[in-house]
Amino acid sequence: MYSLLKPLLFQLPPEKAHQLVFSTLRLLMQSPFRSVLKEWWGNTPNYPVTLAGLNFRHPVGLAAGFDKDGVLHPSWSDLGFSFAEYGTVTPKQQSGNEVPRLFRLTKDQALINRMGFNNQGVVHLADLLATRDKTSPQDFIVGGNVGKNKSTPNEDAVSDYLYCMEKLAPQVDYFTINISSPNTPGLRALQEKEPLKKLLSATVAYAQSLPTRRPVFVKIAPDLDEFALGELVEVLIQEQVQGVVATNTTLSRTGLLSNSDLIHQSGGLSGKPLQQKSTETIRWIHRQTNGELPIIGVGGIFHPEDAIEKLDAGASLIQLYTGYVYEGPALVRKIVEAIAQSA
Ligand code: FNR
Repeated sequence: MYSLLKPLLFQLPPEKAHQLVFSTLRLLMQSPFRSVLKEWWGNTPNYPVTLAGLNFRHPVGLAAGFDKDGVLHPSWSDLGFSFAEYGTVTPKQQSGNEVPRLFRLTKDQALINRMGFNNQGVVHLADLLATRDKTSPQDFIVGGNVGKNKSTPNEDAVSDYLYCMEKLAPQVDYFTINISSPNTPGLRALQEKEPLKKLLSATVAYAQSLPTRRPVFVKIAPDLDEFALGELVEVLIQEQVQGVVATNTTLSRTGLLSNSDLIHQSGGLSGKPLQQKSTETIRWIHRQTNGELPIIGVGGIFHPEDAIEKLDAGASLIQLYTGYVYEGPALVRKIVEAIAQSA
């Protein structure tokens, strides 16, 4: 069905297409079609994975940024995912950068985005998750991806992250500290040793102080050289984070085929051109830490083989974004079936 819809959707500006898909899915998931869609796309086999004390039904989740405000929660479970990472959310609602801010590089099977953490604010997400708590299946894992407001200087970033975590704590199973979006000026500087230590010691201590401890994962950029990545991983281990999400979008533009006006849009590049870079980052971290730092792999997964490659490189779980846009909702089931068969 998606192969019929995709040519029409791809005629629309990318952000409009995204909104249209969202409103349509929202209607369908509240209608009798829900069970049909669930049967088509959501009927994923079980392939259990335990990571940081959490039991995932299988290793395939929705990446952050796709449903920033949790609008479709918990329908992602019906659509086959075992977990969804909502956010990035910030303490205060913010509208993000000016439109257009999302670009489709069809020839490269990629997207460039400079959304800039547009979101309704953390309280909005926390309230929505609380309201829908009863309809969320027990085995569906919810991640809260947190960030800082654009107006908050990096010196005060810790309090933004802590505020988001406090609001989300009763509603999420894990936190992801996002320090790798290229679209909030200065955010990636939080990946440096000293600011990172300060941020992680406070956030990990908070997560451990909760009555039910919540694992903390850190989402990193694919653009770090080996030295910077080595330093970062050292801090992650010292500060006892439970895992790393590798990777966010890249600033690199090498090897692209699309028109130069598209290629030169500022923002983060995702999809096929990111695939190898993110897999290499996963492999490097896995080797460097002897597999001691759990990894959630994300970046350029379009086919089951891409997912298996990420798992072979050392990831325990994987997440989808751009591949889901290009390949459609059947991708989740195809991947989980292939993983289950390859075991
Ligand atoms: C993203 N991504 C993202 N990541 C994050 O941690 N917080 C966010 O708010 C967003 N927002 C966002 C918006 C858009 C339009 C895109 C395309 C991506 C990054 C995303 O979660 C993922 O890490 C990368 O896109 C790489 O995976 P794919 O897209 O190549 O599968």
